[in-house]
Amino acid sequence: MDLYPVGILGTGKYVPDRILSNHDLEKMVDTNDEWIVTRTGIRERRISSDEQASSDLALEAAKGALDSAGITADQLDLIVVATITPDMAFPSTACILQEKLGARKAAAFDLSAACSGFIYGLANASNFIATGMYQYALVVGAECLSKITDYTDRNTCVLFGDGAGAVVIGRVPEGRGFKSFELGADGSGGDLLKVCGGGSRNPSSAASLESKLHFIQMAGADVFKFAVRIMGAAAEEVLRKAKWEKADIDLLVPHQANKRIIQSAMERLELPPEKCMVNLDRYGNVSAASIPLALAEAVEEGRLKEGDKLILVGFGGGLTWGASALVW
Ligand code: ACO
Repeated sequence: MDLYPVGILGTGKYVPDRILSNHDLEKMVDTNDEWIVTRTGIRERRISSDEQASSDLALEAAKGALDSAGITADQLDLIVVATITPDMAFPSTACILQEKLGARKAAAFDLSAACSGFIYGLANASNFIATGMYQYALVVGAECLSKITDYTDRNTCVLFGDGAGAVVIGRVPEGRGFKSFELGADGSGGDLLKVCGGGSRNPSSAASLESKLHFIQMAGADVFKFAVRIMGAAAEEVLRKAKWEKADIDLLVPHQANKRIIQSAMERLELPPEKCMVNLDRYGNVSAASIPLALAEAVEEGRLKEGDKLILVGFGGGLTWGASALVW
């Protein structure tokens, strides 16, 4: 079967107004700006209001992506929302977004692959378009991680923030668009990064709240080692599948978890700093929103031109990882 070439037609982003700086965190837990900046690269992160849920952030990012793609919501055939902070267990955040956008004919579902969710979503949605089943898909990463973060736990609360990024994908001219994807999972590392309350294993109860099971738990050093190994390996795999060399890469857009993890990926790919998009200093780790938010800012900053070769790569809870090589 012949497949249509598929690529990104438009990007959008949204972050809440409220800024939580490292200095603010110094007043909340036993930490300091110097530790956070040297160990992570993060200076501040955005925090959603009590009224905002992930679909509200997703809506603003989605509007931006639709505008920049030059299409309207009623042209969308599919909406995929990657999130670990859905508005609620169900209906899906994608269905809530479909209603808010008025995307009447779009199928809609959520996808859970933690910080790798956006890449999983892109791979998924692009197949519907490549086969000709659909014409336009909206892929969103949206998170309100502040709502599942324990602000008494200095190991995690300095890392996470809220935000959303979105892309519209569709058919592109031959030679452009996605050249390869790499998705992976290692469920044996599931315990390293988790929210274990509120599901069918530990339903929400007074006891689950008391035990703080509704908050993120993380074995930071183990996740760090996994991330350093997998970011470089996944990026090299999509290069190999696309038949590109390291020197061909014009821009790397990595998951924004920790500047030291990003640096290790850059070293392995032999990339100079100007070929890597980094915005974690301003937003921290926004999980599934991280890569589309960084991509939308790279576009805003004029860092991408037609024909550029781009690598997206991320890792996350699950454990999961994903990467893509694409021609802009
Ligand atoms: N301020 C001050 N000290 C701190 C803080 C803090 N905020 N947090 C931890 N520490 C202390 C620890 O208590 C520990 O002290 P101890 O040695 O006395 O026990 C010490 O700092 C640990 O220091 P390091 O070993 O140098 O920490 P490390 O270099 O491992 O950095 C970090 C920790 C930043 C968490 C790192 O391990 C990391 O980034 N891991 C990856 C995390 C990640 O990316 N998670 C998200 C995945 S994406 C998703 O799916 C949501």
